[in-house]
Amino acid sequence: MKIVIQKTYEEMSEAAFEMMRELVTRNPAAVLGLATGTTPLGLYERMVKDHRERGTSYKNIRTVNLDEYVGLGPESDQSYIYFMRKNLFDRLDIPRENTNLPNGLAENLERECERYNRLLAGMQQDIQVLGIGSNGHIAFNEPGTPFGAETHVVALAESTIRDNARLFAREEDVPRKALTMGLKNIMHAKQILILANGANKAHAVRGLVCGPVTEQLPASVLQLHPDCTLIVDEAAASLL
Ligand code: PGA
Repeated sequence: MKIVIQKTYEEMSEAAFEMMRELVTRNPAAVLGLATGTTPLGLYERMVKDHRERGTSYKNIRTVNLDEYVGLGPESDQSYIYFMRKNLFDRLDIPRENTNLPNGLAENLERECERYNRLLAGMQQDIQVLGIGSNGHIAFNEPGTPFGAETHVVALAESTIRDNARLFAREEDVPRKALTMGLKNIMHAKQILILANGANKAHAVRGLVCGPVTEQLPASVLQLHPDCTLIVDEAAASLL
């Protein structure tokens, strides 16, 4: 794993953006695996600014997102599809039909997982952007998730519900279930870019880099990926 330590969140975001810009200029029809959460916001802001100021085009780019809450759709400002449209897709020239997320409103969730797996099988991510949870989860693959899992329905861990409650009016409002790519779908990406900032991620980052490869810390599976880059700020790197 390649490890890049930057002083601040802004510098971490800038380094991530440089990797992304290099990819989309080299391959204007790339498949980008994207993530929600607060971590990649600095990266997305830079992509939008670069598109506006330098005209980098996303019209032939396709995207696949990691996950979505069950029961929330594009009309809900807490859904991940809403987050992605607001923070990225609607601010680029990417056609909506080129953007993909699991459908949290699907009537049959098992069938929706199968649909998403088929989609992913046909469009390998050139890069997969990831954040990391304070418990070492990636996407909604909580500790204990088998490394071989593909897209599936998950019950969120209590720690994840607490972490995410800050984004909802009340903790009770956080959905208890989500649809998520599995670790196998994530590991299928040609290249992985995992970002982490802040002291609350330091323990998980240590496990990701130095710990045993264990399903108890899902991100540790990335040690087995042939092309994985970790970009962190100093606070998140403090236990390395
Ligand atoms: P965050 O979430 O970017 O909001 O910290 C990361 C995650 O839980 O994967």
